[in-house]
Parts: sequence; structure tokens; C-alpha cells
Amino acid sequence: MTKISMKVNGKAVSGDIPDETLLSEFLRENLRLTGTHVGCDTSQCGACVVHVDGKAIKSCSALAVSLDGSEVTTIEGLANGDLHPMQQAFTENHGLQCGFCTPGMIMASVDMVNRYKASGKELTPDAIRAELEGNICRCTGYHNIVHAVEDAAAKM
Ligand code: FES
Ligand code: FES
Repeated sequence: MTKISMKVNGKAVSGDIPDETLLSEFLRENLRLTGTHVGCDTSQCGACVVHVDGKAIKSCSALAVSLDGSEVTTIEGLANGDLHPMQQAFTENHGLQCGFCTPGMIMASVDMVNRYKASGKELTPDAIRAELEGNICRCTGYHNIVHAVEDAAAKM
């Protein structure tokens, strides 16, 4: 067992956890932040994406003990009173159906838009599709997800 501390959604948290605990498990089981979904547990589906120190990662592929001292944001911490522009855009553009992939899609998309804005590169629909290759959706056919990301990018 190892004691870890981190900041999650702006709040200091700690836990005494087995060394093999994944970040996704720590978030869902220790902190009860079940908005981070686990679809595959093998780094393929992207349902578990969260931000660690401002960058998107698949939380099923990181050991929580390796992130001691980090700042983590989950889908629960994205809204700040009002919905985040990406959450609003997914709602308005019907970028979801069952919603299982949605937390990971949104967290990955926020990171994507932030990176493109910082670099000054144009975020085209093709670029959005390529960036989301690690996020799988079984329902939507992706068209409305791409529209949602374009919409949010104009507002972020
Ligand atoms: Fe992490 Fe699928 S649960 S990528
Ligand atoms: Fe159902 Fe994406 S909305 S998996």
C-alpha cells in the first residue's frame, strides 16, 4: 500500500492504495467520481480520459501512485457554474446518444482545442477526426461530435 495525495477538481485528496491501482479505479472507487467511464481497461476506447496537469490522458493506463502530487480534472470538474463550452456544444449539436463515450470525448476535445489554439494551427474537421482516433463511439457516427468540437472551438 502507498499513500498518495493529489488535487482532484481543485480539491486536495489522499488515499492509501495498492500500488497497482489505476487512476481510473482511484477516481471511481476511492473518490466516487463515476463520470470517468471505463469501457475497455486496455487503452483503446478513450471513455476514461481525464486531464493530468492540464493534459489529456487515458486514466486506465496510468498508475495512481505514479501521479502523486498531480492535479487531475475529471468531467465533474469541468463545469464552472455554467457548463463548459465543450459540454454546451455537445448538448446543442447532439454530439451524444447513450453518453457512455461522452466524458472521455469531451475531456479529449478540450485538450485538443487548447493545444490547437496554443499552436495557432487550424483545427479542421479532418484534424478533429484524426485527434479523436483514440476515442470510440458506438452510437453517433461521429458527425455530430465533430460539429460539436468545431462549435466549441469557436467559443473557447
Ligand atoms: Fe481507458 Fe478504454 S477504459 S481507454
Ligand atoms: Fe454511445 Fe458514444 S454516445 S458510445
